[in-house]
Amino acid sequence: MTIKEIFDRMEYGPAPEGNAEAKAWLAKHGATFGHFIDGAFTKPGQTFATKNPANGTDLSQITQGSAADIDEAVAAARRAQPKWARLPGHARAKYLYALARLIQKHARLLAVLETMDNGKPIRESRDIDVPLVARHFYYHAGLAQLMDSELPGHAPHGVCGAVIPWNFPLLMLAWKVAPALAAGNTIVLKPAEYTPLTALLFAEITREAGLPKGVFNIVTGDGDTGAALVAHPGVDKIAFTGSTSVGKAIRRATAGTGKALTLELGGKSPYIVFDDADIDSAIEGLVDAIWFNQGQVCCAGSRLLVQEGIAQRFHEKLKRRMDGLRLGDPLDKCIDVGAVVDPVQLATITDMVRSSDGDIYHAKTPIPPQGCYYPPTLITGLGTASRLMQEEIFGPVLVSMTFRTPAEAVELANNTRYGLAASVWTENVNLALDIAPKIKAGVVWVNATNLFDAAAGFGGVRESGFGREGGWEGLMAYLKPARTAKPLKPVPAIPEPSNFAPPALDRTAKLFIGGKQARPDGGYSRAVFSAKGKHLGHIGLGNRKDIRNAVEAAHAAKGWGKATGHNRAQILYYIAENLSARAAEFATRLKDLTGKDGHAEVEASIARLFTYAAWSDKFDGQAKSVPLRGIALAMNEPVGVIAALCPDESPLLGLISAMAPAIAMGNTCVLVPSDPFPLAATDLYQVLETSDLPAGVVNIVTGSPAELAKPLAGHMDIDALWSFCSTDLSSLIEGESATNLKRTWVNNGRARDWLGAEGEGREFLRHATAIKTVWVPYGE
Ligand code: NAI
Repeated sequence: MTIKEIFDRMEYGPAPEGNAEAKAWLAKHGATFGHFIDGAFTKPGQTFATKNPANGTDLSQITQGSAADIDEAVAAARRAQPKWARLPGHARAKYLYALARLIQKHARLLAVLETMDNGKPIRESRDIDVPLVARHFYYHAGLAQLMDSELPGHAPHGVCGAVIPWNFPLLMLAWKVAPALAAGNTIVLKPAEYTPLTALLFAEITREAGLPKGVFNIVTGDGDTGAALVAHPGVDKIAFTGSTSVGKAIRRATAGTGKALTLELGGKSPYIVFDDADIDSAIEGLVDAIWFNQGQVCCAGSRLLVQEGIAQRFHEKLKRRMDGLRLGDPLDKCIDVGAVVDPVQLATITDMVRSSDGDIYHAKTPIPPQGCYYPPTLITGLGTASRLMQEEIFGPVLVSMTFRTPAEAVELANNTRYGLAASVWTENVNLALDIAPKIKAGVVWVNATNLFDAAAGFGGVRESGFGREGGWEGLMAYLKPARTAKPLKPVPAIPEPSNFAPPALDRTAKLFIGGKQARPDGGYSRAVFSAKGKHLGHIGLGNRKDIRNAVEAAHAAKGWGKATGHNRAQILYYIAENLSARAAEFATRLKDLTGKDGHAEVEASIARLFTYAAWSDKFDGQAKSVPLRGIALAMNEPVGVIAALCPDESPLLGLISAMAPAIAMGNTCVLVPSDPFPLAATDLYQVLETSDLPAGVVNIVTGSPAELAKPLAGHMDIDALWSFCSTDLSSLIEGESATNLKRTWVNNGRARDWLGAEGEGREFLRHATAIKTVWVPYGE
């Protein structure tokens, strides 16, 4: 072609990025890799091939990690951990800083290798993935530096196991490794089987940075290797990114083991376009939302919701734009859409689209004859319940639907089991900022999409998982309160005396549901005795149906989350005042129940109500320092409906210690009070009834925590479950919670001093809130 012809046709010519350096690096390793354990590569074992999805060629042989390999890596990480954690933050900061510098130095090799292994366009790996990785290490060097002064009283978990996916192989590594190391943990990483190469190159970089051996380890392999890492008793925390189904399996596998867990899972994120949006910008945003990385992005804007009046025009423009997208060799710098990661994933996408009964539009763009390519695709005409509207396709496929009003947009946006991200497009700032808090998602982008930064938390709600990555909040996921807790002592109920004759007059305390006292559904009750064997009354034994009613009432009261912090504070003060007026009576009741003087517990309960009244309007969010003209707000939102099995040993203070932070932050709750000493809670009904607390904000179901834990943990409409009771139900609760991936906070058989400082404070507030990051870019 002559230059004149090129100017006449104005077509792109190929602009391939060289891959000689990457090939040389592979050749240096004989294109065969072992694991990276204790600072050195191991001898390759049984191997499998990792391929270039753009052309199907083998790139290298990777070792399938065995349980013995995991043992070895965890042992190395364990040996290295105490010394690593003892280093001053500044020393760890220097290592992280060195890693950041070296990532920049090797940026081109990392980007090319990533593109060869994964199939993503070089423009993305070069301009997005690798720069974000370097930024992550720089940012976390800073967190390591500041941790000692800013986060006293915290300790690392110990050894972290990280299992990561194939869509952002190096970036997901950075998201796990940087905070884990900053916080003083050591790490065993299991990269995805399709894309292990940049992790192995990173291992080499850690050597160049002089990272002490054993601090960072890699075991390669498939899901079985991942499962072995998750199950290993020497691992203290698991951080996982991947599919919701594997996330649920990991939740079950770690249940009751005491391992900390964060899950960053799938999504079906809405991309909402209002009729006053800047349409051309919204179309460009959509290209990034769903065709970035071939749509293999957990927070992909895969569900377009467009306002009816502009839908036709919008779809027409979109199709034209889709037709102009260039598909092909991902190493070509002019390519918009690269290769899907593997033929297996390509088959999944193809089958899912074929199964759809919607109107399917494939972009009219040439597709290379070989390699894992799938054309940009738009599907319209689907119903809200149709499979492709609900399920993650994880490919370059957009589904679209229309809405009429903002309220309908929110309803459709939230009509999903996921809650990872959302984009809102409108020129009306009032509308955007009104919609953002109403969307159930961990991240909302206003007039933007797929903005990420190390300073801003990223993560989901609902079945998109829990925990945040990035920012101070992300670091907290790699830390725990530094305290040595004593084992939990079971607190038995006072047994029925042998000469007990039930009274003629029924004095069964009822349950407290929806602001009313309600009889237990089963009609069963249990007698409660004083420490001296005196009959004090009966309590109702709640069952599954009572829990259902209580959860319904808690949902009906969700307007509480919209009350101002000031209003919530006033009600907490009012509860405190009313409790104070009856302090002597409650102290006597506590003495009767437990045999111990109750005055201190009542006083502590009143003080605790004051504490959370104070916090109601002071647990502030943040404006994050992201490198962008605009703001990224970290908003503390209520989790939703929180259920709690309250401590047995401090029947009044324990209940208030769970209830007060939950309602102070705008949650509604379902509480199961102390089982041996339940009458302190049933006496509280009157206090709650006379304190202007809206009906349903607090619901109390008495009964056996061991029996109520299962229906609570398995309930689909409970967002978080806390367990502080003296029977260790951690395993049951964490295992059953996998149904809807509710957040859990369990005691793992360890006691807490409810009267002291560990019975209240920021730890509780963090569990009572979810951070939503709202990105609002502005300016020219
Ligand atoms: P996956 O969830 O199976 O794999 C992610 C990682 O988990 C890999 O390293 C894998 O080896 C490991 N793994 C698999 N089973 C495991 C187990 N039982 N225990 C511990 N680790 C285990 O994802 P996959 O199969 O590669 O992709 C399937 C679907 O998952 C995709 O189509 C997509 O819908 C979704 N996905 C979502 C991602 C996200 O970022 N949200 C990332 C990757 C996949």
